Amino acid sequence: MTANTRQADHPIAEVFTARWSPRAFTDATISEQELLGLLEAARWAPSAFNAQPWRFIYALRGDAGWQPILGALMPFNQSWAEKASALVIIASATRFTAPGKTEASDNGSHTFDAGTAWGYLALQAHMAGWASHAMAGFDRQAMAKAVNLPEDHVLHAAVAIGKQGDASLLPEALQAREVASPRLPLSETAVHGAFKA
Ligand SMILES: Cc1cc2nc3c(=O)[nH]c(=O)nc-3n(C[C@H](O)[C@H](O)[C@H](O)COP(=O)(O)O)c2cc1C
Repeated sequence: MTANTRQADHPIAEVFTARWSPRAFTDATISEQELLGLLEAARWAPSAFNAQPWRFIYALRGDAGWQPILGALMPFNQSWAEKASALVIIASATRFTAPGKTEASDNGSHTFDAGTAWGYLALQAHMAGWASHAMAGFDRQAMAKAVNLPEDHVLHAAVAIGKQGDASLLPEALQAREVASPRLPLSETAVHGAFKA
């Protein structure tokens, strides 16, 4: 298994640096109940007006939904995600009925909120002993068809969830990439007051 040598510059809970996105999965299976336990964490994400615009479409490896979703991934992602235990598509509803209104309107925060839900899912998965790996590399039309995406919904990511395996399980070209990545220093992404003119 790959060592994770990440060091935080400020004290934070261990889960934030311990979670990362491997591609090597064992052939473990996940039960629907276990998967729902991970999605439960995502359910509790905050969202504008508490509209909860995220939608999760999931398939367990080998079930009827699996192949259409796997097949819509880019070939590179298929090459490793095919061993995952579950694939979860993160989508969101773009419209909602705001509190006090009777007509639906555009929800300006649906993408932000769906991203928060994905983050919660990833952290819960890690804490429950599962690895997760998000992918934007998929054919949007094919994925919309695979999950029968309703109108007024957009796709954001596919997430492979599985038990992390040894890097040697991967094709050789991918083995060297099986490491926990670093981050930019906070000084490059946090601005006190305002960006410099
Ligand atoms: C929205 C999103 C899309 C991503 N798309 C892909 C992808 O298509 N294929 C892939 O191998 N990794 C993909 N990644 C994984 C990122 O490369 C990875 O999260 C990033 O390098 C940070 O590494 P870490 O998750 O291990 O901390 C994606 C991640 C996110 C959040």
